[in-house]
Amino acid sequence: MERITAVYPGTFDPVTNGHLDIVARSAGLFHQVVVAVLRNTHKTPLFSVAERVEMIRTAAGGWPNVEVEAFEGLLVDYARRKGAKIIVRGIRAVSDYEYELQMASMNRRLNPELETIFMIPAEPYSYLSSGLVKEICLLGGSLHGLVPEDVERRLCCRPAPTSPAKGL
Ligand code: PNS
Repeated sequence: MERITAVYPGTFDPVTNGHLDIVARSAGLFHQVVVAVLRNTHKTPLFSVAERVEMIRTAAGGWPNVEVEAFEGLLVDYARRKGAKIIVRGIRAVSDYEYELQMASMNRRLNPELETIFMIPAEPYSYLSSGLVKEICLLGGSLHGLVPEDVERRLCCRPAPTSPAKGL
């Protein structure tokens, strides 16, 4: 039987329990899941790419078929290098749809053999985003249950950025 590898790409600044819910679902469906952290040149992330990779590795250590890497350049090229046929994206509300449709369609044009699959997270994570997590932290709210404890600790140790809630 052919082994199916899926890439789950994102900025993950930082990883949330919603992202991890999608990782768990993907790990149950595919032989290999590569969580691919974008080395983003446009956004100014709060965490470095090395920190973002480390946080996901710590949180995803329990899944033997999940690996975490940084990538740059086109996602379709990275997926080809990894031998992946599937791109996984989490979708929460209808508002996510337009952006996701645009990306999936463009990725299909760039590589028609690569399929994008959308998954919905468990209901408690349907309104969760990395941007909101950063804002809640900045304003002193509780992150309990929204991010792994390691991420919560790292967020609490961060000095406040100069422009709050940027890059939501
Ligand atoms: O978590 P995000 O920020 O929504 O993830 C966006 C991501 C990383 C999936 C997207 O920006 C991406 O794939 N970037 C890589 C460059 C690329 O392939 N761009 C063309 C996409 S159609």
